[in-house]
Amino acid sequence: MMEWTDRHCRWFHRQITRRARLYTVMITTGALRHGDAARHLDFDPAEHPVALQVGGSEPEELAHAARLAERWGYDEIDLNCGCPSERVQRGAFGACLMREPRTVADGVKAMRDAVAIPVTVKHRIGVDHDDHYGFVRDFVGTVADAGCEVFVVHARSAWLQGLSPKENREIPPLRHEVAHQLARDFPALTIVVNGGLAGDESIAAQLAQVDGVMVGRDAYHHPWHMADWDRRFFGEATPAPTREAVEEAMVGYMARQAALGVPWPAIARHMLGLWHGTPGARRWRQVWSDHRLRDEPVARVAAIATAARLGAAIRDADADADGEAAPQPQELGT
Ligand SMILES: Cc1cc2nc3c(=O)[nH]c(=O)nc-3n(C[C@H](O)[C@H](O)[C@H](O)COP(=O)(O)O)c2cc1C
Repeated sequence: MMEWTDRHCRWFHRQITRRARLYTVMITTGALRHGDAARHLDFDPAEHPVALQVGGSEPEELAHAARLAERWGYDEIDLNCGCPSERVQRGAFGACLMREPRTVADGVKAMRDAVAIPVTVKHRIGVDHDDHYGFVRDFVGTVADAGCEVFVVHARSAWLQGLSPKENREIPPLRHEVAHQLARDFPALTIVVNGGLAGDESIAAQLAQVDGVMVGRDAYHHPWHMADWDRRFFGEATPAPTREAVEEAMVGYMARQAALGVPWPAIARHMLGLWHGTPGARRWRQVWSDHRLRDEPVARVAAIATAARLGAAIRDADADADGEAAPQPQELGT
């Protein structure tokens, strides 16, 4: 998710689920061709399985991006046909490509000819008034004929006039049933549904209808919602990690990254939801987002955060016991 996630976020999420597939943000073919490819593409081997998502429409450029993805070790390359932003529209890719299934098919074919890793497409269920089922069915059919076997369906239309990208994730109504119908009409394809899904029960209900589920915002804000996925959805026998273990792994990671010049707040920002819903979570989060601590060694910040969390938890319990609101915890800091 652009401006939210990055390789550090993926490393964090990988501590919680070993099996779920992680995706990069959309990177344009132009940025890969003319920009600092390593900055966009480098990732840690621990992030596997990980897919590179690209934005573009020129077959040659897409093939070039696919070759880079494969060379860098990505497990999949995904073409974005769902982004509604004006900048992306001006570049004539993203969601507006749904109106040009032949162009997408040509791009998919060029990528498939260039690499052995799977080529997938993420798309919407319609664009503006082109929102009848036949529109998305023909899009999927045409692109599948070019060899794409996996479609990630963000189950709402993109409204290209007048809505911001954020509004385009909230206002067009969700119609999961369109993804379900695609799964029935294209049983040989892998249809993954996306949009508005939160919590294991809603995921399980979708998996009765489609082949996979993609979760965006809920995974970011409530990362612990992923903790049971490996057991429940991938049949793993190993128990879910504890939050303590994940936090400890992150502290080690942040210390290693600090030695490479990455300040810990750039990483910690992704894990602020780790203790969400547990006593002391707010105090813990406040410490990890306290810019006054930014020059402290990460191990010290972790100790302060844990002390704040446990202290606040004890105070919460006291408050529960005598029925009073918890007193405001002391400001922590340097
Ligand atoms: C801040 C933000 C950035 C996003 N960036 C991308 C992106 O780069 N590529 C993409 O395919 N979808 C992107 N999305 C859309 C999500 O992948 C997803 O399709 C959408 O949020 C609906 O799923 P959700 O309700 O589970 O979040 C972004 C969403 C958000 C909130």
